[in-house]
Amino acid sequence: MEKIKRIGILTAGGDCPGLNAAIRAVSKPAIVKYGIEVIGISSGFSGLIEKDYILLTEENLSGILTLGGTILGTSREKPFKKTSSYYEEIDKPQLIKQNYEQLGLDCLVCIGGNGTQKTAFKLSQLGMNVIGLPKTIDNDIWGTDSTFGFDSAVNIATEAIDRLHTTANSHRRVMVIEIMGHEAGWITLNAGIAGGGDIILIPEIDYREEIIADYILKRVAKRPGSTIVVVAEGIRKPENIGAGEYISKVITGLTHLESRVTVLGYVQRGGTPSATDRILATRYGTATLDLILERDFGKMVALIDGHITTLDLANVAGKLKLVPKDHNLIKSAKSLGTCFGEKETIL
Ligand code: F6P
Repeated sequence: MEKIKRIGILTAGGDCPGLNAAIRAVSKPAIVKYGIEVIGISSGFSGLIEKDYILLTEENLSGILTLGGTILGTSREKPFKKTSSYYEEIDKPQLIKQNYEQLGLDCLVCIGGNGTQKTAFKLSQLGMNVIGLPKTIDNDIWGTDSTFGFDSAVNIATEAIDRLHTTANSHRRVMVIEIMGHEAGWITLNAGIAGGGDIILIPEIDYREEIIADYILKRVAKRPGSTIVVVAEGIRKPENIGAGEYISKVITGLTHLESRVTVLGYVQRGGTPSATDRILATRYGTATLDLILERDFGKMVALIDGHITTLDLANVAGKLKLVPKDHNLIKSAKSLGTCFGEKETIL
């Protein structure tokens, strides 16, 4: 088998805790154990278009395991997306291919979410050797049970809900917390359960406003106190208003109870990765290097039933892993009386 001499690695899409742990896990053994040259491409696919990169060394990889964000930078550049501006008329995929060849890459590692895996697949179709490494706080990549970044985000959101309980109880208020997740409600569902949310609203389950109001009024009638409403940003709502704000207004309008909103936002994506995310990122990284050494390209590493495995990028590209309506966590929450807004819940 032809020896691997040089690989490129990039991080694309929204950042998340654990990216540096993954970069380190691919690169450190590649450099130290196998004498492979590793270049870190700057700012996702933009760096491949502009040939902007750094040489990764033992020195610049040292101390990054616990560091949030990505030492390489990231961007939401989608090279296959057609737009109308002059700059965008450049054939970006061909430019990427040309730069990949000029840089002498034997393989390109694409660390990213759904969009990145789709781009990775399309690049592999152009003849490049590509491996996809999944990451996202949203945990919505098809084919893998978990992505790093998710555990850290759930921990942060759970802590925020914990803190809201005490202030909500003191004032006997309805507290609405908006959590990230445009299409998938994984963070909201998990943090909502871990934080003891009374109402959990996720994009996958359509809610009815009067059911939410009725649930809160019944709660208050039974025992005056606070109510915690955990809402994913992607639930059905009118445009130009945030999900949390909208639900809070609906609640006050229908129940006349005092309600406050907290939008957790980018705090969920920042800071140091949890131990679970560091471990998962490390496992994905070393498995990626194994694939490279075996020249087994066009694959994405994945976690299934606790084991690291590989999937064809062709199978992953363009798919999304949403929360199934009959997911065991939903069943569990419902049996505790949690309201998902879709039908009357027995208190
Ligand atoms: O990383 C995924 C995600 O956190 C989504 O949940 C969120 O809606 C989105 O990124 C927002 O990120 P940005 O503003 O960077 O596009």
